[in-house]
Amino acid sequence: MTIGVGLLGLGTVGSGVAAILASPQGRHPLVAALALRRVAVRDPARPRSVDLDPALLVTDPAAVVDDPDVDIVVEVMGGLEPARTLILRAIAAGKPVVTANKAVIARYGEEIAAAAEKQGVYVLIEAAVGGGIPIIEPLKQSLGGNRIHRVSGIINGTTNYILSRMAEEGAAYGDVLADAQRLGYAEADPAADVQGGDAADKIAILAGLAFGGPVPRAGIPTEGIDRLKARDVTYAAQLGFVVKLLAVAERINEHDQAEGIQLDVRVHPTLLPKHHPLAGVHGVNNAILVEGEPVGQVMFFGPGAGAGPTASAVVADILNIAGIRQVGGADAGLDPLLAASSWRPVSLADASLASHRNYVRLQTRDEAGVIGRIGTCFGTRGVSIQSIVQFEATEGSAEIVVITHQVRESSFRDALAAITALEEVQRVAACLRTL
Ligand SMILES: NC(=O)c1ccc[n+]([C@@H]2O[C@H](COP(=O)([O-])OP(=O)(O)OC[C@H]3O[C@@H](n4cnc5c(N)ncnc54)[C@H](OP(=O)(O)O)[C@@H]3O)[C@@H](O)[C@H]2O)c1
Repeated sequence: MTIGVGLLGLGTVGSGVAAILASPQGRHPLVAALALRRVAVRDPARPRSVDLDPALLVTDPAAVVDDPDVDIVVEVMGGLEPARTLILRAIAAGKPVVTANKAVIARYGEEIAAAAEKQGVYVLIEAAVGGGIPIIEPLKQSLGGNRIHRVSGIINGTTNYILSRMAEEGAAYGDVLADAQRLGYAEADPAADVQGGDAADKIAILAGLAFGGPVPRAGIPTEGIDRLKARDVTYAAQLGFVVKLLAVAERINEHDQAEGIQLDVRVHPTLLPKHHPLAGVHGVNNAILVEGEPVGQVMFFGPGAGAGPTASAVVADILNIAGIRQVGGADAGLDPLLAASSWRPVSLADASLASHRNYVRLQTRDEAGVIGRIGTCFGTRGVSIQSIVQFEATEGSAEIVVITHQVRESSFRDALAAITALEEVQRVAACLRTL
């Protein structure tokens, strides 16, 4: 039985998928049963990295969805619209969907899952997070018996590449970004990557799967690396840390609470101790650390983007659906574990109630007793200090870096307000989370 595949998009990922379908030799035997039937692009005249029969190309993406020879719709065009509408159109027509579109799934996942469950079709999203790293299916299936405590990850390759180079070279953020753009590691418009929005989309999806209910994407506190100073990366290294853009989703209430699951979900530059499993993830690689009971810590590592790795994940999803069809099984909805009817109530906790370790860089007057007064401000508000170091003194000005123990966010903010009010403190120059 041949299974017809329709591609919405033939860019980086779409071309990678087409290349795999065009060369089934040595792959899973089912790849040979997949036939590319129709492909939507914006500009059919654009040169492509794959050789395709030009008759397959259309500029109306709805024509791909509606083609009776297309059994599985693969959405790799990106953007919110018309991608969302096309996914819903495919579902309404009873066609399973494979998508790599984290932006759509993070915002409209609930709507799409409900539509898929109603129609009894699959929507598979392995490529939406972590590129070539299998993480969606492991969270949905292989780790299903665990109580997940925390999912944390380096899930944006562009920012990890920039941070790796800042750490290696002591270079400024803007210089490395410009170089990354020249080398093709960063988009011409890097905002979604460097401001943390892409990582927030992905952690919303991972948290939804790990904790069993939709996570409100808009409520995720997000801070990117665009204001990070080379100096903090250097000081962090001297204190035994590396700086990474970390996306974290952590359960903060007990497992048997009636109010449902309360999560602390956030994206921000974070100091990781050098021995932390995520600290050794460099360059464009991604890694996701899942912590649960009874499994303990499981880490997934690999290439987080690119034509080949992302197409690997897309084709795996296509094969999952094709395999079920081949044995005559009906589609069973988005996924038994993801079906809207089995969701649990998940909410984002009040951020001031969460506890973290912190790194603070203060610019102060270079006077005796300043460190003592800063220490008192922290101490009287119950914020215990792991280390306090004076780094640099220039004429009349000193830089003091404090690393706190784990403290409640509200106590830390109170202490910081008191410190800012000290006459000898000129400014809080940087404030970063620490693991
Ligand atoms: N690139 C990666 O490494 C990566 C990794 C993981 C996930 N993803 C996700 O995968 C998706 C695709 O990314 P990409 O990098 O492959 O994007 P891309 O290179 O920009 O390709 C987008 C493709 O969609 C086509 N397209 C866009 N809008 C269209 C419209 N309205 N009608 C018809 N065709 C349209 C474009 O046509 P033209 O070619 O004619 O312009 C192009 O072929 C995104 O959701 C992205 O977030 C990408």
